[in-house]
Amino acid sequence: MTQTIAIQLESLVLEYLRQTNHQGVHNFLENWPTKPLQLRHISSKELAVLHYLRDININTNSKASTLVQKLQKYADRLYWGQTYSKQDFGAIFMNNYGWTELIGTRGPIVSNEIACGFLLLGPNTHYPGHSHEAEELYVPLTQAQWKQGGENWQLREPELAIYHKSWVSHSMKTSSEPLLALYIWRGGDLAQKSFINPP
Ligand SMILES: [Fe+2]
Repeated sequence: MTQTIAIQLESLVLEYLRQTNHQGVHNFLENWPTKPLQLRHISSKELAVLHYLRDININTNSKASTLVQKLQKYADRLYWGQTYSKQDFGAIFMNNYGWTELIGTRGPIVSNEIACGFLLLGPNTHYPGHSHEAEELYVPLTQAQWKQGGENWQLREPELAIYHKSWVSHSMKTSSEPLLALYIWRGGDLAQKSFINPP
């Protein structure tokens, strides 16, 4: 079942990314897995943060609306994981953080070229500065504050892509609204635990 849902979501993600003019998105699409997709069996696993996924209201005029509704409907049939532990960012963070990988070295759709999935953060959550070898494209689907490198915090509107080059430190902060964001990693170790950067 996880595979069936992942295939449906992959199709919607690809359609969504193709119709947008995000700067740099086409570089990431070059590495997208080709059909027929190679699949692996993954058991579903839920996390506390999924509670907040149901609270997300995407404008029905948004191009991402079909994708988000599908994710909301079938999230409990996917595997939701966490790269960190309580020792890294504390128990409250762990109840407000999780991701699901659709494509990659661990997800239901096999790729050694890219990893793609969704990150979910609960409200009033700070995901501290972290970095990884892979370059990364995020498409936030809700509003949140983002920061990278030595820049100041910036309020980022939904559906405007954010690019992180390899090893640049980045962090996110939510207020009353949870953050749902589509991510794609390319290059480097696609299952790497991020390095935690000093504040
Ligand atoms: Fe990242």
